Amino acid sequence: MMKSFKLGVAALALSTGLAQAGDVEVLHWWTSGGEAAALNVLKDDLSGQGIGWQDMPVAGGGGTQAMTVLRARVTSGNAPTAVQMLGFDITDWAKEGALANLNDIAADKNWDAVVPEALQKFAKYDGKWVAAPVNVHSTNWVWANKKLMDELGIAQPQTWDEFVAALQKVKDAGYTALAHGGQAWQDATIFDAVAMSTGGADFYQKAFVDLDEAALGSDTMKEAFDRMTTLRGFVDDNFSGRDWNLATAMVINNEAGFQLMGDWAKGEFLNAGKTPNQDFLCYRFPGTQSQVTFNSDQFAMFDQNGKVSDEQAALAGAILSPTFQIAFNKVKGSVPARTDLDVSELDACGQQGYEEFKAASASGNLYGSFAHGHANKAAIKNAMYDVITAHFNGEYDSATAVQELVSAVQINK
Ligand code: GAL
Repeated sequence: MMKSFKLGVAALALSTGLAQAGDVEVLHWWTSGGEAAALNVLKDDLSGQGIGWQDMPVAGGGGTQAMTVLRARVTSGNAPTAVQMLGFDITDWAKEGALANLNDIAADKNWDAVVPEALQKFAKYDGKWVAAPVNVHSTNWVWANKKLMDELGIAQPQTWDEFVAALQKVKDAGYTALAHGGQAWQDATIFDAVAMSTGGADFYQKAFVDLDEAALGSDTMKEAFDRMTTLRGFVDDNFSGRDWNLATAMVINNEAGFQLMGDWAKGEFLNAGKTPNQDFLCYRFPGTQSQVTFNSDQFAMFDQNGKVSDEQAALAGAILSPTFQIAFNKVKGSVPARTDLDVSELDACGQQGYEEFKAASASGNLYGSFAHGHANKAAIKNAMYDVITAHFNGEYDSATAVQELVSAVQINK
């Protein structure tokens, strides 16, 4: 009796698009195979607590489209219960007073002590917890096909020049050297690592965090754009518009040598049954071996009549529970959002990522990824995307791209 009543309510909720008591409606952009597998870990956890899941997926890597849908939903007075968000998007929504205060659950579960400072910067606003961090990803990774590397005798490139030589070898052997999807956020994800490698950490800080005009307009920035032109010469003819996970599939299927992508790419390798160091290799983008550019997926809860609902509290609690953090991040490709966990269950790339995150944090080499909304607000990020993409597609030469970047930032600051 109870069950059919619940099913009926769920069906009604689906048809009206409104979350019912006992459900959470979650807006997210995790639609690839690896992402969906990770999301299932969360759905299962909640269903174990008797909480129903209303899925609101908005496809589009990096979340640009999801954020547009979110704005429309909030404007029409129909905010979802919980929303996957990144960096400055969270604090910007908090500034608008749209997010629920999670301080009770945070205090109860001791989040202040276990969530690293770098994530708290985005999860808290004005002394209040407004989001529950589910993971830490980092963006400056190279994913390499082990079989092709062995076949062509390519060792891990340590420098930009070695990387270009490796790409050339793969290309000369008739494979796609660089698997890439021509979408603005993917172009920017590559640029994130290229800029860090070209100019180093101080340059990255000045240009992408401080928005210093001299750094934005520098010869170093021009060189970073020139390197993007070099990389453009190693993608295949069909790169335009390709989703990131299809680019990962090219590496998985022995069609391409490398992909430059955040460690959500690892979720695709794992989902395809592949093993690190046997089938694929993970290493930092050459020249960024000591740095980590990170992003953290967090779930912000939209205020429901001034209080946190039981379902929102349950979701937030589940997200930061130690067992869930390990189970989820194993599948997602990311590392836990808490520093007090035993990560021996993570695979080799995961353990490496976790160690590097901690080391970079301790040595002052941890930077929020500008391409993933952790260096500046969305208006700046999107303005940078436009320039980087226009340059990658040959609309601007490097000198023009530098000028356009400076003025894009000026206008949107
Ligand atoms: C990132 C997000 C990851 C992954 C990726 C591709 O912004 O942090 O979790 O989903 O986009 O969709």
